[in-house]
Amino acid sequence: MKNMTSRIVSIGLFLVLFSISGCFQGRPSSKEPIHLNPNMDRQQKYRPQAESNYFEDGATMRPIVEGTVARGELKDDTRFYFGKDSKGNFIKGFPKQIELNMELLNRGQERFNIFCSPCHGRIGNGRGIVVERGMLPPPSFHTDSIRAYPNGRVFDVITNGIRNMQPYKYQVPVKDRWAIIAYLRALQRSQNATIQDVPQNERGSL
Ligand code: HEC
Repeated sequence: MKNMTSRIVSIGLFLVLFSISGCFQGRPSSKEPIHLNPNMDRQQKYRPQAESNYFEDGATMRPIVEGTVARGELKDDTRFYFGKDSKGNFIKGFPKQIELNMELLNRGQERFNIFCSPCHGRIGNGRGIVVERGMLPPPSFHTDSIRAYPNGRVFDVITNGIRNMQPYKYQVPVKDRWAIIAYLRALQRSQNATIQDVPQNERGSL
């Protein structure tokens, strides 16, 4: 008899636990599960790009208040961030943050080959692969006029684009733009080099 009772109790207990565990439900439900300790899991909030009837323009996403600077986004150094001096003229050389060395040139070469060569060609002659497929060719970097561009002007072209060339500020971070310019200068020298530019002891290998 005692055995029988404990068997019934344990079957009952099993059924209760089984139903609490959710196995009885059998099909998906759109109802929220019972949440014993909700903490702050659910709160009123706006989701990005959702509608709002609080703001006049009906959007939850707000424009940045004028003069706001996000952390780490202060661009007070016009030479570095815009390629211009304080009077707004393009700078000839490089900003002081940019140290010219092999590491920078290698980085510039890599970035140039990724971002510029499809149109401008690996040697900057304006005959990239895209041009071979029918795009209007960009100018060669080896003309006297582009060789005479101050660095700041090239920086501006990469940053904001020009006529048929789209801007690359979204793809290429500021420091990489300077690295590309350093490499572009090396390319220009390489295409206009004379034997005098080759170190004495290496002239024989040419
Ligand atoms: C999708 C093709 C394309 C890519 C990629 C591209 N350019 Fe250009 N670029 C052009 C075209 C086209 C022109 C000519 C624009 C015009 O005059 O309409 C041009 C012009 C230029 C000029 C000359 C601007 C002037 O004053 O005439 C420079 C300098 C230049 N590009 C640099 C770069 C650099 C550096 C990169 C890589 C970060 C780059 N471009 C990537 C297509 C491209």
